[in-house]
Amino acid sequence: MEKKVVKEIKKPKKTKRDLSTVTGMRDILPQDQKYWERVREVAKQISKDYDYERIDTPILEYSELFVRGVGSQTDIVEKEMFSFVDQGGDSLVLRPEGTASVVRAYIQHGLLNHTQPVKFFYEGPLFRHEKPQSGRYRQFFQFGFEAIGEDNPALDAQLILMGWNSLNDLGIESVIQVNSIGCKECREEYKKALVKYYKTKSKLLCENCKNKMGRNPLRLLDCKEEGCRSLREDSPQILDYLDDACKNHFMKVIGYLDELDLPYVLNPYIVRGLDYYTRTIFEYWAIDDVEGKNALGGGGRYDGLIKILGGREETPACGLAMGMDRIVAKMREKNIEVPEERIDVFVAQLGDAAKKKAMVMYENLRKNGSFTVSQAFHKDSLKKQLEIANKMRVKFTLIIGQKEVGDGTIMLRDMQGGVQEVIDFNKIERELKKRLEKYNEGAVIDLTQNEESENKIEMSGNISSEIESLEDQKEDIEEIEKLDLEK
Ligand code: HAM
Repeated sequence: MEKKVVKEIKKPKKTKRDLSTVTGMRDILPQDQKYWERVREVAKQISKDYDYERIDTPILEYSELFVRGVGSQTDIVEKEMFSFVDQGGDSLVLRPEGTASVVRAYIQHGLLNHTQPVKFFYEGPLFRHEKPQSGRYRQFFQFGFEAIGEDNPALDAQLILMGWNSLNDLGIESVIQVNSIGCKECREEYKKALVKYYKTKSKLLCENCKNKMGRNPLRLLDCKEEGCRSLREDSPQILDYLDDACKNHFMKVIGYLDELDLPYVLNPYIVRGLDYYTRTIFEYWAIDDVEGKNALGGGGRYDGLIKILGGREETPACGLAMGMDRIVAKMREKNIEVPEERIDVFVAQLGDAAKKKAMVMYENLRKNGSFTVSQAFHKDSLKKQLEIANKMRVKFTLIIGQKEVGDGTIMLRDMQGGVQEVIDFNKIERELKKRLEKYNEGAVIDLTQNEESENKIEMSGNISSEIESLEDQKEDIEEIEKLDLEK
């Protein structure tokens, strides 16, 4: 008999946490979605306002993309990538950032032959194996904008504005931190000067900075350790090392920011943690985050990246990404209200025949497209259904019972005013549209004043007290009538 080969499954190291989320990752529950939805809405609107088109790139990419793109000596590549070798022997990573992927797509699809710049908008999850702490997750979300194929400083300024606008539109006050790290050539000179300066102070540096001095000296400037922070005060300044072209470019960016009256700070200590940047770099700090411990977003120019990843030489580009997790946390911290979408119409039913009719009617209402609808057909009790409708704060409820099935009518209840009227079943969609138009105009709908109405109008009071007074489910139209005027 042929022997079956059973692949051995390795026992997981941790057993206690097997059934919870992976460290540094979390669920975003339905009750929190409204914040995320609002952030996505604003990001999408900004992308439209400035003509950035949506791109989705895969979550898995070849490791090489980020090793070359982000830089082999960055924290991200050195220690934070979720990487593995797949069944085919390929070395893959869960993308730790979006820019390299977008550039890969630009090159792979020959977009350099399109009108430049090509402007991309994206949004989705990223993965970095960082030490989890407040505002730092191993799976986090960004939305971002990348403009490839243009070096005009107006583009840098406009991108800076877009990030700031997105925060401002969400009600978050932020200050832009802006700097220029020049091109490769002027940066080399600056790095030498930095190493020279820090070598004389190496004993005072933290271990991490000592390590970084030889490999990535710029990162010494954004160390958060107190000792290193005080040393940087006397360190050489990048702006003194910019060549004329880089200096002019930066002065123009700043000129536009002034003209736009944006709140910015020239911060010579922001250097960004990714190697692909050239010239303009920037971050957004919440107004109360004076040390920039939890930047809400950041970006900059990356004129060399396209060539590094195999694209045409001298393809300039600029972009930014905003951290959605931190933005949502800030909205909650500041009690920023998110306008909740109110459902227009709830369909309630009582009795089996009515339920069947209501289900068919619901499909027609849903397809009509002029109003949003909801229901709870899994409930038989009218009282329960109206409680649900009330909790959802729907604008109108349609109630159908056996009597209505018999005489071809339906009860339309204005949930705000508590007014009910009986309308012809065949006129539902027209009647609803009419009422919703008035409702959305902000008019107080007084159905009793509606002279044209041939409908039977009844007044009633507060719905929750009526629901309270309803007896439990009786499949009888009398129960609906109790809704009206049991006072
Ligand atoms: P980044 O500064 O690494 O830049 O990330 C941008 C934003 O993502 C950060 O400011 C932060 O709000 C958020 N973020 C980063 N890591 C985490 C984390 N572990 N947990 C929560 N939020 C996080 C980039 O990713 C560049 N690709 C931006 C860019 C686009 N540059 C040019 N184009």
